Formats: sequence, structure tokens, C-alpha cells
Amino acid sequence: MKTLFIGQNEINDASLAMAGEILRRGGLVVFPTETVYGLGADALDADAAKKIYAAKGRPSDNPLIVHIADPADADKYAVVGDAYKRLAKAFMPGPLTVILPKRDCIPMTVTGGLDSVGIRCPENPIARRMIASAGVPIAAPSANISGKPSPTSAEHVRFDMDGKVDMILDGGECTVGLESTIVKVEGDKLTLLRPGAITLDMLRTLFDNVEVSAAVTEQLSENVRPLSPGMKYRHYAPTAPLYLLDGSDEKRIAYCTAADGDTLLLVFDEEAALFPAHKVIAIGKQSDERTQAKRLFAALREADSTGCKKILAPLPRQSGLSLALYNRMIRAAAHNIITL
Ligand code: TXA
Ligand code: MG
Repeated sequence: MKTLFIGQNEINDASLAMAGEILRRGGLVVFPTETVYGLGADALDADAAKKIYAAKGRPSDNPLIVHIADPADADKYAVVGDAYKRLAKAFMPGPLTVILPKRDCIPMTVTGGLDSVGIRCPENPIARRMIASAGVPIAAPSANISGKPSPTSAEHVRFDMDGKVDMILDGGECTVGLESTIVKVEGDKLTLLRPGAITLDMLRTLFDNVEVSAAVTEQLSENVRPLSPGMKYRHYAPTAPLYLLDGSDEKRIAYCTAADGDTLLLVFDEEAALFPAHKVIAIGKQSDERTQAKRLFAALREADSTGCKKILAPLPRQSGLSLALYNRMIRAAAHNIITL
């Protein structure tokens, strides 16, 4: 299929109306959000959702998130209670997805056969204008080929999705760069299924009872069905094996210095000049986890394009926004951690 590409300066009421029309007709539109780009289809149309799985090459038991333009719309598609309302008031629109019991109008193809649905109201104005123009809720996973890093720019999307979708809306670089925080709500108990820019500390300011699913930091054994099916798939994976280095800065720098010449190093900005014999990609200052989050997926894609044999990177901390970096990186590294 021919993919219509709408550049940043062509985003306007007319092009967004066209996107809405394509979505209502059962087509696929890639759109920017503050987290990563989404591959959208009408969430009320089972056949449209099937096209998403085909375009991504995604297993059909991995459910899609349903995007809405107004947090109050959740009630049409899910059973909302007091906990959702508190979360919505504090963090929506924004990088948060809430798992709730689904209503019948959401087809099982969208939820991967589950009786729950993930609801998210993105903050990105292009995303919200597009959803409003479609007039239907939009099912959307990240717009990457399944298993590859999520796209954080329209160039990434083009690389993965050109010829597989009807339209791509270019919204520039995503400001957060890592996918939304996912929480499951049961009564007044929350379970964190995927960490993101709405951090555990932020959730704990609102709720006394916030559990962290083991899948956030641990490797799941083959026979466990995780609460969030996506957690079991190898994700964000560059072609060359990635190893995460756990140890002091001195030990990590020494280890990297001694690595083979065809090893690519992900390093902090202030370290970039220390490795003249290696190809390095700077991921942000050590103290700046926001920039690291924003750059991570682009760095993994860039690493892939260099043809390196191996990638080394620092193991992130497990607190604040770094918990989200930790979660993505251990999965990109297939849990290969080298203790120094
Ligand atoms: O930031 C984001 O959330 C992006 C943008 C496009 O909104 N979307 C995204 O979608 O990351 P995706 O499909 O790549 O990841 C969705 C994750 C998967 O791990 C899936 O298993 C989980 O959400 N999920 C979706 N619905 C669920 C449900 N009903 N119960 C448990 N987990 C669910
Ligand atoms: Mg994804």
C-alpha cells in the first residue's frame, strides 16, 4: 500500500480530518504521542485491530491500549471507579495507561482475549486532535515492528512502517521517549505493570497500596503468564547483543576501555571523549534521566545501524524515571548483566 506521509508543517485541521476519515473507514494511521509513536486503528472495529497485528508482526495475545481524547470518555469503554477518577485527575492527559474491566463494545481482538482494557489519554495535542476527529477510540500499540525499539521520531516510523499503513503523521521527536506507565486497578489497590514517566513515587503520593509486578524487574520463567502479556516478549532488541554493566563508574570505564574495537559503547555525555578507540553513543548526562529516557530508543536503533558486534551500557538505577530505563534496558539486553 502507498503510505501518505504528513510532514510537521502539514499538520492542520484538514490533514487531521483526513486521518479521522481513514480511521473511521478501518484504516491504519501512525500518530505521535508524548511517549512514543502509536500505530492506530478504530478500537471498536475488530477487523481494523487485526490489521495492526499484521503490520507489526505482533502476536495476537498481546493486547492493545485504547486511546481517548478526553479522560471522561473512559466510562464508555471500561468500568471506571473512584481510583480511575483520582488517577485521571492527577495524571491525565499524560503518559499513563490504566487497566480496567472492559465493556462489551471493545472487541476481544483488541484486548488479546482479556476481559480488561488499557485506557490512555495522551497529552500530545496532535494525538488528541486526531482521536477527536476520528470520533472513535483508537487502539494503538507502539508503531515499531514487533521486537524492535519503539519509534520516537517519524524517521523511525518510516523505517519500520512505510508501505504497511495508510498514513503517518509527523509530530517531531517524542518528549518522553519511553512508553506510558501501566497500572492495573483493583478496588483501591494499584499494581504497576510497566514503569514510565508517571513514577512509582508519584503513584504513591495518591495511593497507599501500590504493588510492583515482578515482571518489571525480573526475568519471567517460560510457564508464567504475566499480568501484562507484553512483558514476556523480548523487546526493544538491537541486533547485536547488549550487555549491561553493574559496578562503579571507574570499573565500568575500565571495562569499556578494554573491550574489543567492534564493541559499541553507550556512555554518559561527560564520558564521550574517554574512548577514542571505540564508537560511542552519548545517552545524556549521568544526572539527567529525562534525556536518557528520551534518547534510549534512538540510541538502540543507531547502534543497530553501525553493524557493531556487541553493545555495552551502564545498568540504570531502579528508582524514579530510571526504573523505566532499567525495565527497558534489561529486556533489550535479554537480562545479560555483567557484575564488575
Ligand atoms: O506509551 C504508550 O503506551 C504507547 C503509545 C502509543 O500510547 N503504546 C504502547 O503500546 O506502548 P504497546 O502495545 O507497545 O504496549 C502495551 C502494553 C503491552 O505490554 C500489553 O501487554 C499491555 O500494554 N496491555 C495492554 N492492555 C492490557 C491489559 N488489558 N492487561 C494487561 N496489560 C495490557
Ligand atoms: Mg510496544
